[in-house]
Amino acid sequence: MNKERFNRVTDELIRSLQEVVGNANVLTEKFDLEPYSHDETEDFVFYPEVTVKPVSTAEVSEILKLCNEHTIPVTTRGGGTGLSGGALPVYGGVILSTERMNKIIEIDRENFMATVQPGLITYALHQAVEAEGLFYPVDPASKESCTIGGNVAECAGGPRAVKYGVTRDYVFGLTCVLADGQIFKTGGKLLKNVTGYNLTQLIVGSEGTLCVVTEIILKLIPLTQHKRTMLAPFDSLSDAAKALTDIFNSKIVPRAAEFIEQRAIKAAEEKLGKPFPHSDRAALLLFEIDGNRADLLDEQAENIGEICLAHNAVDVFVADSKEKQEELWQMRRNIGEAVKSIAIYKEEDTVVPRSRLPELVEKIASISKKYGILTISYGHAGDGNIHVNIIKKDISDSDWDNKLPHVIEELFREVVILGGSISGEHGIGWVQKNYLPLALSHVEIELIRKIKEVFDPKGILNPGKIFPDS
Ligand code: LAC
Ligand code: ZN
Repeated sequence: MNKERFNRVTDELIRSLQEVVGNANVLTEKFDLEPYSHDETEDFVFYPEVTVKPVSTAEVSEILKLCNEHTIPVTTRGGGTGLSGGALPVYGGVILSTERMNKIIEIDRENFMATVQPGLITYALHQAVEAEGLFYPVDPASKESCTIGGNVAECAGGPRAVKYGVTRDYVFGLTCVLADGQIFKTGGKLLKNVTGYNLTQLIVGSEGTLCVVTEIILKLIPLTQHKRTMLAPFDSLSDAAKALTDIFNSKIVPRAAEFIEQRAIKAAEEKLGKPFPHSDRAALLLFEIDGNRADLLDEQAENIGEICLAHNAVDVFVADSKEKQEELWQMRRNIGEAVKSIAIYKEEDTVVPRSRLPELVEKIASISKKYGILTISYGHAGDGNIHVNIIKKDISDSDWDNKLPHVIEELFREVVILGGSISGEHGIGWVQKNYLPLALSHVEIELIRKIKEVFDPKGILNPGKIFPDS
């Protein structure tokens, strides 16, 4: 797939797009296009030629028909919080922004299902369903600005995945538009459904490359009444990783089990200008448990505390008020931004089976030492999903350019040897695509290439993503 295959957006096409969505919803000025030229991925900037803001499935269909006919690339964009460049319009063309498609269509209390439009902010869904005593557990760190559609595209995870699963575990039905404008629905409010291939699950995590999702049916669960949030500081990263393994061995499943190494905590302290408890220790584990019986939760909290202390935790701190709990999570959610603000960086979204986490932590440290390059790690330890940030600090430009590809490749090779993969929740997108063959076999890559061709024969949907440059 290369740029030459695509046509430029013409004045005539802009007029046709204006007829579909109205003049005010077609942006062409550089100033107006700036917010759509980047997401949260490093410092990449790619301007679209035009941004279009449809409000319905029918409008999306009309836009895609036009773009397909004229062979114009279309990149669908939600909140623009992605970390793998999924929303970057790398070949220009059209940004299809879902920002006006932000409604909750229905909260079905009898079936525990919500039907929503893709541009809905994830946190807005949390608030709406929690007011009904229901729960949509998926909570990416960017929950206040990311959208459900973006979460579906990247199969977003977040801290609560360890107990409750990731986006795909909640998506039961979709309304979609194919590149040629055909509209189709998959699944429904059905907890059981074995009717043909599961297209719903093929589309979740397909990073906007197969179709445009315009409606989503999500499963909800009852909201638990109680939770406990705990913080355990350690002087050794590997002690922290081993404590975590033992907690799971004792059959406790926390709803969050996060790992934060010291440099990440320091960065967040600096960003927020607030001290964090035990920020002078090598690593912190942040746990949250939930349930409907306060006495059982207290017992579990005590067990977790004992296991941490047996693995040399310096202390175990229980956040007993809502304010203290929220303060810990606010700190945690800000780590990504804080680490990014230190220097030029590259973030890798490694994932291994949870039991291999201690080995992953050791490998990261040894790669960092071997290349003399700073890494800062944090993430969802309970999922074996660690965000490894490689930081350009105290090394020259040429050293950075020479070493970085080797560091990434070695890291990914080790991850695969540990039975893991190269993205747990951020997606392959633009930045990871050339590493795909390290994680997927030739047979798998050919299969997904052929699937892509069936959905989108002209390759207009989010080109330049997932598939390695050939
Ligand atoms: C986090 C994002 C980076 O866990 O996934 O903070
Ligand atoms: Zn994360």
